[in-house]
Amino acid sequence: MAKLGHEVVGIDVDPRKIENLSTSRAPFYEPGLEHLLEEVLQTGRLRFTTDISEAKGNSVHFICVGTPQKKGENAADLTYVDAVATGLLPFLSPGDLVVGKSTVPVGTASRLAHLINLEHPSAHLIWNPEFLREGHAVADTLRPDRFVYGVSDGSEDNPAVAVLDDVYAVPLQAGTPRLVTDHATAELVKAAANSFLATKISFINAMAEVCEASGADVTGLADAIGLDDRIGRKFLNAGIGFGGGCLPKDIRAFMARAGELGADQALTFLREVDAINMRRRSRVVELARNLCDDSLLGQQVTVLGAAFKPESDDVRDSPALSIAAQLQLHGAVVTVTDPKALPNAARRFPELQYEECTRKALEGADMVLLLTEWQEYCDLDPYEIAGLVGAPRMLDGRNVFDPNKWRAAGWTYRGLGRP
Ligand code: UGA
Repeated sequence: MAKLGHEVVGIDVDPRKIENLSTSRAPFYEPGLEHLLEEVLQTGRLRFTTDISEAKGNSVHFICVGTPQKKGENAADLTYVDAVATGLLPFLSPGDLVVGKSTVPVGTASRLAHLINLEHPSAHLIWNPEFLREGHAVADTLRPDRFVYGVSDGSEDNPAVAVLDDVYAVPLQAGTPRLVTDHATAELVKAAANSFLATKISFINAMAEVCEASGADVTGLADAIGLDDRIGRKFLNAGIGFGGGCLPKDIRAFMARAGELGADQALTFLREVDAINMRRRSRVVELARNLCDDSLLGQQVTVLGAAFKPESDDVRDSPALSIAAQLQLHGAVVTVTDPKALPNAARRFPELQYEECTRKALEGADMVLLLTEWQEYCDLDPYEIAGLVGAPRMLDGRNVFDPNKWRAAGWTYRGLGRP
């Protein structure tokens, strides 16, 4: 927002985050973010505070807090969203706009609008879901592929629309499409988009299972069906499945909400999407055992990648770490390496061994698993690293390597859903 030219105050309850952000240190790794922070902090248009009363006097208020999965349940935990909405109430002025960005169960926006309007009848609430991807967050924010505005009456003429248009003037003038709709539809757009993406990944992973059973190659299959532009090649990479702080918990929260609304049957397919996804992890462990002559006991295993995806240090629901932990439970001695995510990984899975240097992590390994496709791992030279490992066995959990090249270099190569 500051980069777009606005005066911005960022508020959080965590004083350490505020202190770090104020000195342009981001609380997580995101390419380009610290550089951007440094740039806008210098302009004086952005500052950070823990004091929510500093929202007073500003006319647009974004709610950007998380909606994690509730402990032991599938539903989303709305504690933080509710706390921000009620926390803002004493500091809103007539005509202010509150913009919801958090991923919430359908019905939340109308409930919050009601709460806000009880005290501030002239304030507006827009639900404006966020579609950025971790690892591409800066570009996705400055140049989004669409804006969705959910307003109380679903009308283009709602006065809140013009206010948010002013906020997004720069990307809108650059041609970003924007759709105006009602609160419920805007909330559902987000749930539907993430469900579709998750379904696409599980679809191709289901095809990978069939490819394995029939000796076919899922990468060639994805290339071929992806050329049909009604299908498209993106999000058709078979592998160890999806993880992270969004897709897994969003499909579960969506099912839970549909159940509350009496529409659970409509989303039973998402249960299968989730099940296919979780099955990938056990399939990798099974393949790893096969590769090591049916026993992982005492095998020295190197796992390349801990983050749930490259260009991120996020290990929430990371399939890579879950697989690493399962291998260890089967008796393997597992060393995990990752360019950015090791501190987060070590906090979550202290029982695993970690090594920052890729070459050192590979030394003496009986088997290597590529589980997060960081570019530096995709660029590994099979001839060169064959000399480092104890036994040249590669389980490519993201199908990024050329099997012929690795086999020619003396490796026993296994991908997922390919011969
Ligand atoms: C996802 C959505 O892509 C964003 O549009 C959305 O805004 C975001 O959630 C959110 O709800 O905030 P993100 O979680 O950052 O973004 O990551 P994705 O790029 O969607 O990847 C999710 C997982 O799917 C990763 O573990 C990735 O490795 C996996 N994946 C992705 C595959 O296994 N195969 C593919 O073909 C693509």
